[in-house]
Amino acid sequence: MTDSRDLAWPPAPIKTERLVLRESEAGDRAVVIELNASPEVSTYLGGPRPRAELERTVPEVPGQRPGFFVVELDGAAIGTVLLDPHEPELPGNRREAGGTGLGYLFLPEAWGQGYATEACAAALDWFAGALPGEPVVLYTQTANVRSMRLAAKLGFTEVERFEAYGAEQWFGVWPSVAPLA
Ligand SMILES: CC(C)(COP(=O)(O)OP(=O)(O)OC[C@H]1O[C@@H](n2cnc3c(N)ncnc32)[C@H](O)[C@@H]1OP(=O)(O)O)[C@@H](O)C(=O)NCCC(=O)NCCS
Repeated sequence: MTDSRDLAWPPAPIKTERLVLRESEAGDRAVVIELNASPEVSTYLGGPRPRAELERTVPEVPGQRPGFFVVELDGAAIGTVLLDPHEPELPGNRREAGGTGLGYLFLPEAWGQGYATEACAAALDWFAGALPGEPVVLYTQTANVRSMRLAAKLGFTEVERFEAYGAEQWFGVWPSVAPLA
């Protein structure tokens, strides 16, 4: 089974109507810390992490791995979109599901303007071209209404709902279309 580890990385920056998706660089450390320390961003992701711990542990260039995109608006980072190998050994993750998992974190001041949809759609489009036919999976809490709406807009379809971490979780899949043989 292939996954995001098989991606040719980094790609040329991906430009959308309003945004640029690119690999991470040293200047992105502050926004990665902010995203993980923000109580609003991490409400449905296990809660914020202490800023002091993040200052200690986040590397100088964060997210240096295939599938980690920083999203820029007018030259400023507003969030991250991640295409990571699906980890079936994590509690709550579906063992039978393979492939690649989608994740997204945006600064609260950038919510409500369609940026997450625009960025994730571009990342999925790029991914489908890079690894045709490789499905993308998504986990999100059903209480995370913004994330649920985003998943639907991106074309994810529900596989199942289940309880984990004391909350109802939603598990969906995005079927990248396989090339014609
Ligand atoms: C999940 C998350 C990325 C969604 O962000 P978002 O801004 O709501 O998502 P979208 O980009 O789809 O924006 C949709 C909103 O923009 C509005 N919008 C405004 N201008 C728009 C435009 N030009 N195009 C599209 N939508 C636009 C839409 O009407 C919609 O508004 P609504 O929230 O009132 O329905 C964000 O809430 C977040 O980072 N949450 C914390 C992290 C998290 O929980 N991640 C999930 C687990 S991986």
